[in-house]
Amino acid sequence: ALTLLMAGGLGYLLGSVPFGIVIARLFGLGDLRQIGSGNIGATNVLRTGNKLAALLTLVLDSGKGAAAVLIARALAGEDAVQLAGFAAFLGHCFPVWLGFRGGKGVATFLGTLLAFYFPAGLAACATWLVMALVFRISSLSALTAAAAMPVWLWALDRPQAVLWALALAVLIFIRHAANIRRLLKGEEPRIGGKKG
Ligand code: G3P
Repeated sequence: ALTLLMAGGLGYLLGSVPFGIVIARLFGLGDLRQIGSGNIGATNVLRTGNKLAALLTLVLDSGKGAAAVLIARALAGEDAVQLAGFAAFLGHCFPVWLGFRGGKGVATFLGTLLAFYFPAGLAACATWLVMALVFRISSLSALTAAAAMPVWLWALDRPQAVLWALALAVLIFIRHAANIRRLLKGEEPRIGGKKG
């Protein structure tokens, strides 16, 4: 039980590091909260026009999710992995350092999945990428990848993770409430677009 608690705590702490904010500041891009959607993720870093900073944010926000899973696996075994991944996601979305106002958890979720079960993580990334190439809307890609994840896990023979992914997908949808409203109104900015 103690190791489970540690895996969860460590996952939350890792997840709660807001790399987008840190990197935007390091690159002198200003306060992400005042830019674009105000979100702390890679998509919003990209709106500053700095592709390297956006890529770094994506890699580090995914990496912290993957690290949470890999450390939990090494420390406490497979039993702790889902808990640690969930905790990292919660850490990103509700970081204590930002008054619990964090991000939307997409990169962290993808990193967690890649470390949890690589084929399913790849399938999720591919889903995101295909949607992004076709529609060029980050949130729509994220919502599709999140919704597809329980299905991918089922199809790829990981039924024990389907409910876990479903819970994460529901949270991702909730975090995207404002995006969903904009999508329905046709006002969601495109990646690399004038307003995006
Ligand atoms: O990963 C977050 C993305 O799905 C939406 O970000 O900044 O467009 O709200 P943003």
